[in-house]
Amino acid sequence: MSETTAAQSGQAAAHRGAAYDSAFLRAARREPVPHTPVWFMRQAGRSLPEYLKVREGIPMLDSCMRPELVKEITLQPVRRHKVDAAIFFSDIVVPLKAVGIDVDIKPGVGPVIADPIRTVADLDRLRPLESDDMPYITEAVGLLVDELGSTPLIGFAGAPFTLASYLVEGGPSKSHEKTKAMMYGAPELWAGLVDRLADITAAFLKIQIEAGASAVQLFDSWVGALAPDDYRRSVMPASTKVFDAVAGYGVPRIHFGVGTGELLGLLGQAGADVVGVDWRVPLNVAAERVGPGKALQGNLDPAVLYAPTSVVETKAREVLHAAQAIGGDTGHIFNLGHGVMPSMDPDALTRLVAFVHETSAR
Ligand code: CP3
Repeated sequence: MSETTAAQSGQAAAHRGAAYDSAFLRAARREPVPHTPVWFMRQAGRSLPEYLKVREGIPMLDSCMRPELVKEITLQPVRRHKVDAAIFFSDIVVPLKAVGIDVDIKPGVGPVIADPIRTVADLDRLRPLESDDMPYITEAVGLLVDELGSTPLIGFAGAPFTLASYLVEGGPSKSHEKTKAMMYGAPELWAGLVDRLADITAAFLKIQIEAGASAVQLFDSWVGALAPDDYRRSVMPASTKVFDAVAGYGVPRIHFGVGTGELLGLLGQAGADVVGVDWRVPLNVAAERVGPGKALQGNLDPAVLYAPTSVVETKAREVLHAAQAIGGDTGHIFNLGHGVMPSMDPDALTRLVAFVHETSAR
């Protein structure tokens, strides 16, 4: 091990030690907590004026490669909202760019791929991600864990299906028709694609964990488009490969997708310690589908934040009650059922954090 790597891993271990007893990590391990921990998917970003200010004139993917900027943007929602965890500021397509895929993030649209992946020959463009391919990620995580103290840092990656959808469609899609056509019609090509993506995703998570992230979330945002049998056959092996690859680090692994009511059990079985639930399934029902031995994360409808404060509080209380109704040692991490939206009032989010902390204090 080189001196820098040794110093980095010492720093990573020190941070994980400091954050070990945080409410967030305790809940993820299904241990008793002083209050229900809360963080928000997409808590960094356009809902915050201080984000818009520091991002001015800097394209999204460029911003992900500037460690000082990544540190600042990651810390902004922690400072403002007093959330129980930071989520690393980056994007699911950053590792694709790192292996040479021509990808851009178009404002208001999302990731756009110049040359979509459609053939066996295209697979060779998805070379493995090496541990030193993303020095800017290692550096940014290092800067963050230095500053975060006992607040845990969540690393993340896109899951093979969700990444495959962007790569095959060439951009965002509602119906995922080209992706599904490949999955159903060219199963060997599909298996090769999601297997390569599993390796890239696992490598991206390892880079973040080794630099100091104390939990990871796998975003399979669009997997709710699949029927359970198709998920089990064509996608789950690749997602399981990702979870298995990082199991040895002992950091909690969260698995999240939107519209996954019928998939919740499988999302847990794929290897997660915590299953993220969107707003369509009450947490007590989700717990039955997921089964024992896993914590749950969620699941306030993000759109509720546009209603008056009294309504936000009523709906947040319902989420806390549904989690309590599960009983046993099921840990609960409060979150929205999907990400913060750019037009949301950040003050409503700050108030929600305080409300969850106060209401759940024990
Ligand atoms: O605060 C955080 O959650 C951390 C940062 C984060 C971003 N993207 C930053 C970002 C995370 C965890 C992601 C993951 C991501 N990226 C997902 C999975 C999460 C989910 O929402 O389901 C997906 C599907 C993507 C792909 C992607 N990147 C989309 C759909 C968009 C939005 C496009 C738009 O302009 O509406 C992006 C861009 C992006 N990623 C932004 C941010 C803050 C907006 C960029 C900007 O400021 O213009």
